[in-house]
Amino acid sequence: MSEDFFPVPQIWAQGALMDRAAREADYARSIADSHEYWMERAQRLDWITPPTRSNDSSFAESDFGISWFADGVLNVSVNCIDRHLAERGDQTAIIWEPDSPDASPRRYSYNDLHAQVCRFANVLKGAGVTKGDRVTIYLPMIPEAAFALLACARIGAIHSVVFGGFSPEALCGRIQDCDSRFVITADEGCRAGKTVPLKANVDAALKDCPSVKRVIVVQATGGDVAMAPGRDLWLHEEAAKVAADCPPEPMRAEDPLFILYTSGSTGKPKGVLHTSGGYLLWAGLTHELCFDYRPGDIYWCAADIGWVTGHSYIVYGPLANGATTLMYEGVPNHPTPARIWQVVDRHQVQTLFTAPTALRALMKEGDAHVKATSRASLRLLGTVGEPINPEAWRWYHQVVGEGRCPIIDTWWQTETGGAMIAPMPGATDLKPGSATFPMPGVVPQIVDAEGAVLEGAAEGNLVIAQSWPGQMRTVWGDHDRFFQTYFTTFPGKYTTGDGARRDADGYYWITGRVDDVINVSGHRMGTAEVESALVLHESVAEAAVVGFPHDIKGQGIYAYVTLNSGEEPSDALRKTLATWVRREIGPIATPDAIQFAPGLPKTRSGKIMRRILRKIAEGEVSAQALGDTSTLADPAVVDNLVANRQAG
Ligand code: WT7
Repeated sequence: MSEDFFPVPQIWAQGALMDRAAREADYARSIADSHEYWMERAQRLDWITPPTRSNDSSFAESDFGISWFADGVLNVSVNCIDRHLAERGDQTAIIWEPDSPDASPRRYSYNDLHAQVCRFANVLKGAGVTKGDRVTIYLPMIPEAAFALLACARIGAIHSVVFGGFSPEALCGRIQDCDSRFVITADEGCRAGKTVPLKANVDAALKDCPSVKRVIVVQATGGDVAMAPGRDLWLHEEAAKVAADCPPEPMRAEDPLFILYTSGSTGKPKGVLHTSGGYLLWAGLTHELCFDYRPGDIYWCAADIGWVTGHSYIVYGPLANGATTLMYEGVPNHPTPARIWQVVDRHQVQTLFTAPTALRALMKEGDAHVKATSRASLRLLGTVGEPINPEAWRWYHQVVGEGRCPIIDTWWQTETGGAMIAPMPGATDLKPGSATFPMPGVVPQIVDAEGAVLEGAAEGNLVIAQSWPGQMRTVWGDHDRFFQTYFTTFPGKYTTGDGARRDADGYYWITGRVDDVINVSGHRMGTAEVESALVLHESVAEAAVVGFPHDIKGQGIYAYVTLNSGEEPSDALRKTLATWVRREIGPIATPDAIQFAPGLPKTRSGKIMRRILRKIAEGEVSAQALGDTSTLADPAVVDNLVANRQAG
């Protein structure tokens, strides 16, 4: 592991929000004087009724619950829009860069944003949406996606964004789970020159979602789509009929803001619920601390709004801070691997926030594409989603940032609402591959398998010992599952599901998931989900899915499949099954390797020994690597698995 050290770079040595001593003092106070600290930090938001309470949370079973700023009242959209109007109504809030470099970018000032969001909110009201209703959003990366989130927030509706790459089946499950009666979509999406049939996917999903009453459709490409009379409405037609002003709904801090589905190690995806006050404070505060946003900066988070990174760091955090946030419709390497850097130059971006998987893909294409661009505007480079390998870190730092920009490696999760462990540009000396130190109020601990807290340099399970404002509040519709999933493995602590190492200097290094969740290109996938999709196919008797190291994706998906008797293994069937999973869940779940296995390694009690399957997928097939196989019901299956290993 790299132990190189990169001190705070020149351009950040002066004038940064915090230097090292200030960061340390701020952190110490956030723990020692928690109530005073958070009351002060709460003032960064505009409250209708300011809170007098801060943290009322408990991780203990007897009085379990998460609550922050409970007696405060506010509206999230007002905090992201209205309060900026007097000072910077004409400043650009959102720059939209389209998929094609030949199409024109669009700009929306805070005044424009206000009008767009108010009209959208009035359209939702007209369609029958009221406070507390769930609104499912299935949109491409167009400005209307940001407007839709904020329009829901304005009227107190709970949005549930479903990534546009998910299949109709996955969309249907997420609509049903939160009993959503409203869907917002577009005619089509446009990504890397290809169209995505979003409206057609919605129509397919809704065959099994009778609860949905209204579908609001954004005209994005102008493609021909079917509109169901009485159910489907065009946004542009409805928006023309309503007022450009919409009074905001006063919301209690603990009223829900959104649901976002994420994969776990068991069962179907969970609806992670975030609420209004604590979440917005956390998104705004961490955006400010990690990226040290200055007025006039152009900030670009190259994520998709379908993931929590898009929620917190394209929309809520930057807009709460009055920033200019860039939204990009396309992908980093289309039409050429220079595209991402051309967008940086075109808009004079200061801060770029992207995923290691994108960097690895671009790195593979060689430095010439990068060097053909200026990138002189860049001051800070961020990364998120998975551990960044030191090689990609160095490339980002040396080639992209020409040694002048700090790399802000932010570790967090859908559940945490925003960054938890991350550097601050003026305060933190960097080590490539380490997310460094905790944000204010975050108390990470490393515990062993029995839950004993390890001090000093140590490696083990990463837990968080006390609540922070951005913490998820529940699993939608299943509070018990929330408690069972996160607070029972190590009682009294929030279990992250990640492993971590703390070095002698106190730096945290995330080592990856310790559960049956895999991280494919920075996207979280439950192995159980892929397995359930596979066994739905008529030829499949049983399936076991594990992750394996993948050069670009970080982890790839490796599936072992036992066929029903009478079915013959073939390359054609392998293709069919890959397409099947793609159709059931979405392209991100497509297995990279499928190995037909006449039998899976099981204990005598019938439990699949995933440890062995992981080793074989990784190509570690020596007897030593595979370990003790004598407890297997049939040790001979391992020889067959080793002999038929797929290259992946
Ligand atoms: C999982 C959460 C964080 C928003 C996007 C993903 C992994 C995330 C890092 C990082 C090492 C990371 C963890 C985590 N992860 N960021 N900087 N270094 N690992 O959110 O889909 O909820 O996934 O992503 O394993 O548990 P998510």
